[in-house]
Amino acid sequence: MAMEALKRETIFEEQPAEGKTGVRAVPRGEIAIRGLQKVYETKKSRFEALRNIDLNIGTNEFVTIVGPSGCGKSTLLRIVAGLDELTAGSVALGGEEVIGPGAERGMVFQGYTLFPWLTVRENIEYGPKLKGIPTLERRALSNHFLKVIKLEPFAGAYPKQLSGGMKQRVAIARALANRPKVLLMDEPFGALDAQTKLEMQEMLLEVWEKEKTTVLFITHDIDEAIFLSQRIVVMGAGPGRILKTFEVPLPDKRSPEVRELPEFLALKRELGQLLKH
Ligand SMILES: Nc1ncnc2c1ncn2[C@@H]1O[C@H](COP(=O)(O)OP(=O)(O)OP(=O)(O)O)[C@@H](O)[C@H]1O
Ligand SMILES: [Mg+2]
Repeated sequence: MAMEALKRETIFEEQPAEGKTGVRAVPRGEIAIRGLQKVYETKKSRFEALRNIDLNIGTNEFVTIVGPSGCGKSTLLRIVAGLDELTAGSVALGGEEVIGPGAERGMVFQGYTLFPWLTVRENIEYGPKLKGIPTLERRALSNHFLKVIKLEPFAGAYPKQLSGGMKQRVAIARALANRPKVLLMDEPFGALDAQTKLEMQEMLLEVWEKEKTTVLFITHDIDEAIFLSQRIVVMGAGPGRILKTFEVPLPDKRSPEVRELPEFLALKRELGQLLKH
């Protein structure tokens, strides 16, 4: 794991090759956040939500951010999504600066609503349709993702006919149907019951393995963070900043039993301590 991280850093710090300008030759899907600052300012007030955030996320890496409420996790994710502007610093995706939202970044936010007037299948096909993907190809895509989220029998159902967990699975499929290089998830399972949450976590890991996307995930649930991630970033508040980063000492192939491993429990204890302060 440590070697992997080291390799990633090395790749990242490489300078552009001679003769090339601007865009560095970094692998696709890689997120580079450099000296990021976010200040919310009005005529009367100034609030520094993020200060000096530096974070590299490798292609196909699964990174989770944890931290107290208000420390700027959602703000950071929204900036990476291109939904919010940064005040200083830079965010690049695959070597290109992020200046707005893009189809290469899929988003799943808590309570992110589906289009109520579209069926499950139509919701999943929405992005590909906007991109001009032909009907047959779209059908193949939605079939594939309906299978991934195990909702084939509900292809023709409307969102109001689904449970919360089912809606959340459709939201994930809808994001994935765009074949994003990067999946940005802000507490996507926060409102689910414990059992559904565990099922969704396993489904997400399966999808992550199959689709080879890079995932940046936010949660308040330490168990969820450890179970899912390869790396965990702990943020602190006042102003929002990175306190510490942990490599998760577990194999990429996770089964529910890893939760009982001493490595899991030790990391859980350490994260718990850090978040208490
Ligand atoms: N549009 C805005 N204008 C002013 N301040 C804002 C705005 N959006 C967020 N903030 C402030 O920035 C800080 C970070 O908010 P953010 O939503 O990123 O926190 P968070 O870490 O996601 O919290 P939570 O865990 O509760 O979701 C908060 O103090 C919040 O009040
Ligand atoms: Mg938030």
